[in-house]
Amino acid sequence: MYSGSTSVKTTAVYKENRIFIVQNHVHLHFFQQNSQFSASFAQFIEDMNHTLHIIVTLRKEKIMKIYTLEQIRKIEKDIPLMVEQLEKGYEKYSLGETVVPPVGYLHFDEPVGNTYIKYGYVKGDDSFVIKVFNGFPENAESGLPTSDGLNMVFDSKTGMTKAILLDEGWLTGFRTAGATLVCAKHLAPKHITKVGICGTGTQAHAILSMTPYVLGKQKVVVYGYTKELTDAFVAEFKEKGFDIEPAYDVNTVCDECNYIVTATTTMTPLITADMVKPGTHITGVGADAGGKNEIDASVFAVADLVVNDSKSQCTVDGDTSFALKKGTIKEESIIELGTLIHTGKGRENDDQITVADLTGIAVQDIIAAEMACQLLGE
Ligand SMILES: NC(=O)c1ccc[n+]([C@@H]2O[C@H](COP(=O)([O-])OP(=O)(O)OC[C@H]3O[C@@H](n4cnc5c(N)ncnc54)[C@H](O)[C@@H]3O)[C@@H](O)[C@H]2O)c1
Repeated sequence: MYSGSTSVKTTAVYKENRIFIVQNHVHLHFFQQNSQFSASFAQFIEDMNHTLHIIVTLRKEKIMKIYTLEQIRKIEKDIPLMVEQLEKGYEKYSLGETVVPPVGYLHFDEPVGNTYIKYGYVKGDDSFVIKVFNGFPENAESGLPTSDGLNMVFDSKTGMTKAILLDEGWLTGFRTAGATLVCAKHLAPKHITKVGICGTGTQAHAILSMTPYVLGKQKVVVYGYTKELTDAFVAEFKEKGFDIEPAYDVNTVCDECNYIVTATTTMTPLITADMVKPGTHITGVGADAGGKNEIDASVFAVADLVVNDSKSQCTVDGDTSFALKKGTIKEESIIELGTLIHTGKGRENDDQITVADLTGIAVQDIIAAEMACQLLGE
């Protein structure tokens, strides 16, 4: 019987987002039997297994790449491509060409927080994506970002990890704003009086920043939860060259704007039917779970066209769910965004009231993550 010490020394370098194992040295020193033998041998086996696992994984060239927000943000310049890809993605979703399980959702009470796990794949695609997005609104009080998250991209033929996108929730804002642009393309009135934004948080920033890509330069009116938040948002966007004014109540937004996007965490509806003028389009992105409700059920009763990004999600978690419960709309009269794009049946004239309820679907995350991977050379 022999005993001794073993050490497994792995030298690795982190270069261009890859982890390379440079050297693996296994030192074995066997001595006469002593009481430490069993323990050190077991540790040796464990270390070896771990090291071999890393080597085998790397040798197969399934080298995981980790990307930071700074790298991922480069897809920002491709907004037209994002809109085009999203349109195709929505169509595939509504035609049943995707696999999208129900959204994983966690709610936290103190402080209030929401975690969403959205995942799935487009049939025939090389990758599948799992996204985690966290929204913790009270972070704003301590100066922390209100959202964070990441996307994991896997090979759909082997299940191997392709990339981890540490996007800090940014991709969600980008693809949500992209979704509002898809709705603008198909549902906005031809002549826009003013663009109205309700909310001054992360999504509102992303949405307004990207709006000119489809609607061109427009006058903007913004309503925030408080005067301070509204004024700060206006000052920031004026600095960026936007023609923007504050509104201190939602009535003003509805009076002046015929294209409105709501992106708040409110549970008390902001917009009711009596506020909405003929010809208005409203896209709501805020009500996505947890009892949030921005567009009152009464608006659905006066709408000529009600669009859901996902009927199965919106009828449970979106503004649409409240309208269904109150009986101001019937499920059969709702059209999915992908079906609308596929059939070309959008807004028919500038007098119609149209509503798009978006809860955010995994297909958007798949598209955003795959776009980022492609740009980053995956
Ligand atoms: N549909 C989607 O795809 C999608 C994607 C991302 C986020 N979201 C949802 O959009 C909402 C906003 O997300 P965010 O990341 O901008 O959050 P955020 O915390 O950064 O911003 C929330 C905004 O809502 C405002 N607000 C809160 N209560 C309000 C009230 N009663 N009246 C008016 N304004 C009020 C806040 O002042 C803030 O401007 C959240 O509910 C989030 O879950 C939806």
